[in-house]
Formats: sequence, C-alpha cells, structure tokens
Amino acid sequence: MEKLSIEDMAVFCKRKGFVYPSSEIYGGFSGFWDFGHLGVELKNNIKNEWWKYHVQQREDIVGIDGSIITHPKVWQASGHVENFEDIMLKCSKCKQEIRADHFIEEKLKVNVEGRSVDEINSIMKKNKLKCPKCSSDFEKIRQFNLMFKTSVGPGEDNSSAAYLRPETAQLIFADFKLVADNARLKLPFGIAQIGKGFRNEISPRDFLFRCREFEMMEIEYFAHPEKTGKCPFIDEVNEEELSFLTAEMQEKKQQPKKMKVKDAIKRKLISEWHAYWLATEQKWFTGLGAKKENFRVRQHLEKEKSHYALDTWDLEYNFPFGWKELQGIANRSDFDLKQHIKFSGSDLSIFDEETRKKIVPYVVAEPSQGVERAFLVFMFDAYEYDKKRENVVLKLHPKLAPVKAGVFPLVNKLDNEAKKIYDSLKKDFNCIFDKSGSIGRRYARADEAGIPYCITVDFDTLKDKAVTVRNRDDTKQVRVPIKDLREAIGKLINNS
Ligand code: GLY
Repeated sequence: MEKLSIEDMAVFCKRKGFVYPSSEIYGGFSGFWDFGHLGVELKNNIKNEWWKYHVQQREDIVGIDGSIITHPKVWQASGHVENFEDIMLKCSKCKQEIRADHFIEEKLKVNVEGRSVDEINSIMKKNKLKCPKCSSDFEKIRQFNLMFKTSVGPGEDNSSAAYLRPETAQLIFADFKLVADNARLKLPFGIAQIGKGFRNEISPRDFLFRCREFEMMEIEYFAHPEKTGKCPFIDEVNEEELSFLTAEMQEKKQQPKKMKVKDAIKRKLISEWHAYWLATEQKWFTGLGAKKENFRVRQHLEKEKSHYALDTWDLEYNFPFGWKELQGIANRSDFDLKQHIKFSGSDLSIFDEETRKKIVPYVVAEPSQGVERAFLVFMFDAYEYDKKRENVVLKLHPKLAPVKAGVFPLVNKLDNEAKKIYDSLKKDFNCIFDKSGSIGRRYARADEAGIPYCITVDFDTLKDKAVTVRNRDDTKQVRVPIKDLREAIGKLINNS
C-alpha cells in the first residue's frame, strides 16, 4: 500500500478526533496542537506503556516529575543559554524566516545540522541560494536561541527572566543527588521523566513531528565513570537485529546494514550501552505493534553532535518525509553533573560502595523520546485502508487503542440489555455504547477509531446470555458468555 503522506495523516487525525490545530477558530497557531477525545487517550496510553516498561518493570530506574519553569541558572549551567541555537535565514524582501539547515537539506540534499555560521554562509554563497518564495537575497544570517523566555513575578527586568524548559533532562540532573540518595540507587541506574518541553522552532513543520510545545519521555542512565564499557544487561538484547548506519558508513555513502547486536559489538561498531538502549527502545516500539522494517539506528556525525554529547545514536523511523530522528540516545558523560556542581557549588557526587570512593557518575545513555513522534509512528504503522470493507482500519495495538471495546445493541429493543453490559465493562475498560446507524456503519466507525473489539448484543443474547465479540483486524466473531466478558476482554488486551 502506498504510504500515507503526513498531510493526509493530519487530515485523518482531525476527522476522527485525534488531533486538532490549536485554536483553529482563530486561524490556528503554528507549532501548537490539541489532542481530541481519541488522541488524548492514545497519548495517555503511550505514556503509560512507556512508564511501565521503562520504570515500573525495572529495578534500576525510578521516576520524577520536575517543574516546567526552574531556576534560570539551570540553563546557564547546562549550556542551553549559550548553545541551544539554530541558524536562521530571513529574506531581505518578503521577510520570510526559515531554518538554514532545513532549507539547505531540501535544496542540496545534504545534512548540515550542527554546522557553524561561517560554514552555512559559505554553502549559501557557493550555491547562490535565494529565498524560495520570492527569489530575493537573504539578509545576513543570524543565530536564534530556541528557548521560550518568560518572566517570573511582577518585575520585567532581566532579574525576573526565566525559561520554559527545552528538555526535561536538566531537572533530572538538578535533582540527581536527592533522588539517588532517597531512592537508595546503586550504579548503574536511571532516572526517568515524562513531561512537557518547549522549543521556539523557527519553522515548525510536518504536523506533530516538529512542534513548539511537545511532551518528552526521557531517561538519564548513569554508570560508574570507570565502568562505561560494559553493560550488564547486554545478553537481553544480543539476538535483537538492528539496521545499523555508523558515521563511517555515512561518510562512505554506504547503505545501512542489518546485524544482530552481538555482531555489531564484536565488530566494535557501537558501544554496549548504546546497543543495549537502542535495541531496548526498538523492542518497546515493536512490542506495541510498530513495524520493525521502519526502524534503523544512525550514529551522529561529529559535526551533528549536541554541545554535551560524546557520542549519539538516533533511533530513526521511516516517516513519509524520509528517515528522521525518533529518539536521540546521547552519551552525555559527566558534562551536566559537573556543570551543575560548578554553577551551584553543591556536591553532586555519590558514594560508590564497591570502590569506597565518592564519584560523579557518567550518563552512558540518554534515551530521549518525543511523545508526539511516538504517536505518529503508532498511527502510521496502524493505518490501513481496507478495500473490501471500504473503510480505514486503524490497527493500533489493543494496549494503545484509545477505546478498548464498543457495545452495540443490534436493534433498539436490545438497548437496555446492551447498556447493562456497557455499564459493567466501563468500570475496567474505556468503552463506548453506540446504537446509531446500521451495525455495518457502527463496525466501520469502530475500525476507524481503532477499537479492537466490538460486542454485539442480539436476540440470542436474551436466551443464551452471551454476546458476539468481533475482532477488528480479521473481523472474526466469537460468542462469549456475558459472565466471562470482562475477563475475556482483559485477556485479549493483555495477551496481544
Ligand atoms: N534531552 C535530550 C534532548 O533534548 O534532545
């Protein structure tokens, strides 16, 4: 099937109540989106599944929920005040503003993310690039800090200036000592957080892919500085196959290569920690229904790396507009903790019982993921147009599906019987009761909303005290006694 474009996905999401342009009645607001009645459920399910897999089902990771606005010194220490910048182009005539690296990538098909102002200037000159809208020259290019500024309290001078957080990670570093001591964590360990982040993107685009307000699911994973080479969990993922694209392969213009984790490590293509986290993350996505062939792992080129990163690998997804970052996994070393020690004067070292020494741990990996990008992945991999049914079937994993079951009386006379079933199921599952239109229309509506199970109450129900349960994906129907329904739906969801 031909891939749905990102624009068509936005249209589908709006039509079905997943995502709306924010404040559309005022013309929308670029880079901001609202989640509708189905979208909010899907988003919450993604976050809940992420939290279960990464925090609750592991002994080595605990969570926090930090504030969105925090002490401005946090962002000085982290380097974001100085370095969190993009290069911007402004047309001298029509004044359109665009992000230089995106524009160059579109025009010349080369990745120039992270290049300096001088390098961008010389590429622009050499290729005589002009405004795409009116073909005029650009003004002198300038750097633009992506953090949203605000002021705290009634004062409006610089002393009240603060920032909306551009990443959740810094709250983890600022709280590191309290969390490590109170949760009695032993290295290696992780601290996780889900929460909003804000970036004043010059040109937000591709629907939910690049927004100005978004949600992040992040882990800072800490190891002993002298034990960064070995990952104690590597056996769990050794057999997992990933599609690898190292920096060297990109420089040599080679294609990605599929390899088991253990083989990539043997060939020294990747560190154990990076391989472990990339494979763990790919498994999370595919375990919830995403398609493995749409994933690859790509190492950042030297010039692309963030100011804090020693080595970064992205888990990439094959979006309709190309392979793009889904999750960035950086080795941040002890950069952040050392910066916060320097700027705050606080002791953020921890006592390592094995070596009986105080140490500042290393962040060996930072699995960092935008919720909205995960949302897109699950939507794209679930979306199928079924020619026979003549409707879209949204094959979301039952654990992610916004609504788990629809309860349908076959005819009006059976409303009361069906309502009783709905009232008892809704205590455990997000369900809907739908009695309008033909049963075929109701099935089609449920397919498009990704409802995995449709429960139909028919005339036989009055006699046999059973209902039919229709499976969204293959339309097969089974008869289930009403008394077993709750357990049966629970099993179907959890064993999928
Ligand atoms: N904390 C990782 C990121 O902001 O991309």
